[in-house]
Amino acid sequence: MTLFRLLLVCEIALTTAQSTVLPPQLTAGSIPVPSSLPSANANGSTSTDDNVRFIPKISDPASLVVPFIGTINGGHVFPGATVPHGMIKAGMDTDSPGNHAGYDGDAQYNVTGFSQLHDSGTGGSVPLSNFKLFAYASCSTFEKCPTTIANRKILRKVLPDGSPDDSASPGYFSTNLTNGIRVELTATRRASLHRYTFPSGTKQPRILVDITNDGQRSATYPVVEVDPAGKVVGGAEFAASFGPGKYKVFTCVDFKGEGYDLGKPTEYGVWLNNYPTRGTTNINQLYPGFQSEMGGIFTFNASPSSDTTSILARIGVSFISYTQACSNAKSEIPDFDFDKVHKDARDSWNELLGRVQVDTTGVDEEITKLFYSSLYRTHVSPADYSGENPKWKSNEPYYDSLYCNWDTYRTLYPLMSLHDPVTFSKIVRGMIDIQKNEGWLPECRGATAQHYIQGGSNADPVLGEFFVKFSKQAKDLQVSPDDLYNALLADAEKQPPNWNLQGRAVDLWIKYGYIPQTMYEPGGANTKYVSRTVEHAFDDFVISQVAKTLGKTQDAHKYLQRAGNFVNVWNANVSVPDQPSVRGMMQPRFADGTFNYTDPRHCSIHDPEKATCFLNAARRDGFYESEHSQLLYAPQDTAKLIELQGGVDSFVSRLDFLFSEGYFDSTNEPSQQIPFMYHYANKPGLSTQRSRQVIAQFYNTSKSGLPGNDDSGAMGSYVAFYLLGLYPLPSTQQILLSSPYFPKISFYNPLFKSTTTIVSQGFKGNPRDGTGGLVFIESVKVDGKPYKSNCYLDWAIFEKGSLVELTLTDNIAVTCGSGKSALPPSISTGGYS
Ligand SMILES: *[C@@H]1O[C@H](CO)[C@@H](O)[C@H](O)[C@H]1NC(C)=O
Ligand SMILES: *[C@@H]1O[C@H](CO)[C@@H](O)[C@H](O)[C@H]1NC(C)=O
Ligand SMILES: *[C@@H]1O[C@H](CO)[C@@H](O)[C@H](O)[C@H]1NC(C)=O
Ligand SMILES: *[C@@H]1O[C@H](CO)[C@@H](O)[C@H](O)[C@H]1NC(C)=O
Ligand SMILES: *[C@@H]1O[C@H](CO)[C@@H](O)[C@H](O)[C@H]1NC(C)=O
Ligand SMILES: *[C@@H]1O[C@H](CO)[C@@H](O)[C@H](O)[C@H]1NC(C)=O
Repeated sequence: MTLFRLLLVCEIALTTAQSTVLPPQLTAGSIPVPSSLPSANANGSTSTDDNVRFIPKISDPASLVVPFIGTINGGHVFPGATVPHGMIKAGMDTDSPGNHAGYDGDAQYNVTGFSQLHDSGTGGSVPLSNFKLFAYASCSTFEKCPTTIANRKILRKVLPDGSPDDSASPGYFSTNLTNGIRVELTATRRASLHRYTFPSGTKQPRILVDITNDGQRSATYPVVEVDPAGKVVGGAEFAASFGPGKYKVFTCVDFKGEGYDLGKPTEYGVWLNNYPTRGTTNINQLYPGFQSEMGGIFTFNASPSSDTTSILARIGVSFISYTQACSNAKSEIPDFDFDKVHKDARDSWNELLGRVQVDTTGVDEEITKLFYSSLYRTHVSPADYSGENPKWKSNEPYYDSLYCNWDTYRTLYPLMSLHDPVTFSKIVRGMIDIQKNEGWLPECRGATAQHYIQGGSNADPVLGEFFVKFSKQAKDLQVSPDDLYNALLADAEKQPPNWNLQGRAVDLWIKYGYIPQTMYEPGGANTKYVSRTVEHAFDDFVISQVAKTLGKTQDAHKYLQRAGNFVNVWNANVSVPDQPSVRGMMQPRFADGTFNYTDPRHCSIHDPEKATCFLNAARRDGFYESEHSQLLYAPQDTAKLIELQGGVDSFVSRLDFLFSEGYFDSTNEPSQQIPFMYHYANKPGLSTQRSRQVIAQFYNTSKSGLPGNDDSGAMGSYVAFYLLGLYPLPSTQQILLSSPYFPKISFYNPLFKSTTTIVSQGFKGNPRDGTGGLVFIESVKVDGKPYKSNCYLDWAIFEKGSLVELTLTDNIAVTCGSGKSALPPSISTGGYS
């Protein structure tokens, strides 16, 4: 039955398959079914091809999302309520020292409130966590309510297994506190709705609004105004989390009784530290640097008709003004309808997540949950702050919480290319608009402030990923190719005053072809010279590919040359101590061309000095978040790395060494491609096994199921790709291919209105530890014809919407094939020029 209805939808989709007009807003009822694009015969039966493509549809993928993954153990994941890429991320804050997203999955930590803004999976200092609400069931008097964080904080209820009584799903969060109050949260893009249900018999339900306690307790210039009718507006200036900047943010909070008329508050006032002062409406506390805890507090009428009272709090937020915070709240949540806001949020998640469908036959539920949870975290950041940019006036979209393109360019945006190109195009427009107004594209950015650059000018590969794949649709998506190209050139050619916050070390890069050690320029405190060199080379590769797409032959050639500059920091003579055969390393180099020496164990688990390579590391040797011996980063020319390494055999033994000796660390993004690098040695079976072993060892759906920070979805998108049997090469037309964890997967692309299905013939499940199994690719057919490679797929396959059929074997000694296009491209073997 279902199948027949699906056919009708798909026929409609087929007729418009070639159009490039913007897709109409998809509604839940009109989701084209991603599972098949069959051509029905007149009698309604389907061909074999259609049966091959058919995937039973998962209509509620939100039910498979586990938001608590990575909420202990340093994952810093935000598990609260948000819509896809929402500015509002409403969640619980705790006094855990370890959680940058407010929440901690460990029940021992006390709850300090429920705030509206968070980032997810970040490092640096605690970001955002602005405007906490807190409820009281039983203060003895208004004046005795404990209002500071230290005095009011409270534990959650604990379930028999020791975990806190918290629950979360896309667009929703709830908890039960030990004071008997139940808290539920849901969200729209710029407003949130909280429901506080007080224990039965509560006579004087009270709710506090905290204006000043952000995650860093950094408020200056606070403003608080309490309206006796039951409303608080306010705001302050706060410190950004990973840079020297500040941001201002404002809120507007009002209330409604659920199922009864709340009336006016019976008591109201401003609170300052531990003193709620009845009848006050504002304190003009305008001392720069002065920190205190302050906000508004109310006593409300209890429900006259029911034993338990539920009060709804509606919270608008704006980076412009509290007037705008109020209008955001009113326009997005006009009628305080909690269930409707929750349903809308969940529907938008289901529509988005449902564009990627998987056949779960023979697959452990844990893997399916891991997949949809990872896909979910791909769409939490960056956040859509459109209309909320305080720095300049523009009608362009404005996305913030980029929190480092260095983390996300490798996998997050390539995953969006497959199923969410329209949102991707808006993020790109926002980045171009930042370049037009600030001079350089953003790298790290949060809370409207520039953050410290990690390695390169890594918006370049984000723009490149978009343009290399969507150049034909760019104009329809309102992305100007000229503006995009000019923005890339600014990064590549214009020396910024402070390349710790903007752009690149352009002058050094152009003069030397690497970033020399001991060369300091204004602002260049954390030079990270070796890591910057490899990233700048990749950034220039991106520009060459965009130039090529635009027909700018000379520029394409110039930047392709510069893309090879990573070789300038390769020292063939350095080996791992006691491992003479593991030879050839990226090393720091002086301006005169000679090399300094860094121990290749630097920053690894084997480092005798136990150094780290974080931004604030005590010992800075030029490496940033990439253990030295695994800095083999040149996705544009892996063939060159093989050559530098002395050939295929020594390259393979180098990769094997990284895994067998525990050097490999998937938490640092430049390393994420390493399991797939065997492809370039024509040994894709080893990539399949290594990538599966990495998933088995380090990623699961438990609260501790991430080995490090999620990095704003960088890890989520990376895990999603591995489970799909794919690994992207950003800003190119190729995606590396392994075998999916599902017998069938499909991507619906709403821009092309096409569906691509990958089917694994003979699928027999996934080995638990990732070792062996019927998972290696023997051959590949695309739309019924043998394909040129078993190791990668061209973008054209996804653009057109094809059927990819994989024949599996349990023989790990498979190859990419024998034709001249069998190996994935590299610059030095003639690819990309
Ligand atoms: C229905 O379609 C099938 C598959 O193409 C075909 O074999 C069969 O002859 C068709 N039957 C009729 C009555 O048209
Ligand atoms: C949580 O608060 C309770 C009561 O104030 C206190 O006993 C406990 O130590 C706190 N927990 C932590 C981890 O600080
Ligand atoms: C909290 O308590 C309510 C009512 O007793 C219950 O329905 C709910 O499942 C509990 N847990 C959460 C996380 O809301
Ligand atoms: C590596 O060693 C060889 C042979 O001793 C020498 O010629 C070459 O200059 C050395 N290279 C570097 C970068 O030190
Ligand atoms: C070489 O690198 C080491 C380790 O980073 C550093 O201490 C030393 O100063 C460097 N040498 C020179 C001449 O800069
Ligand atoms: C889940 O992943 C974490 C982080 O990598 C790991 O420490 C833990 O052992 C894993 N748990 C299971 C049950 O595999």
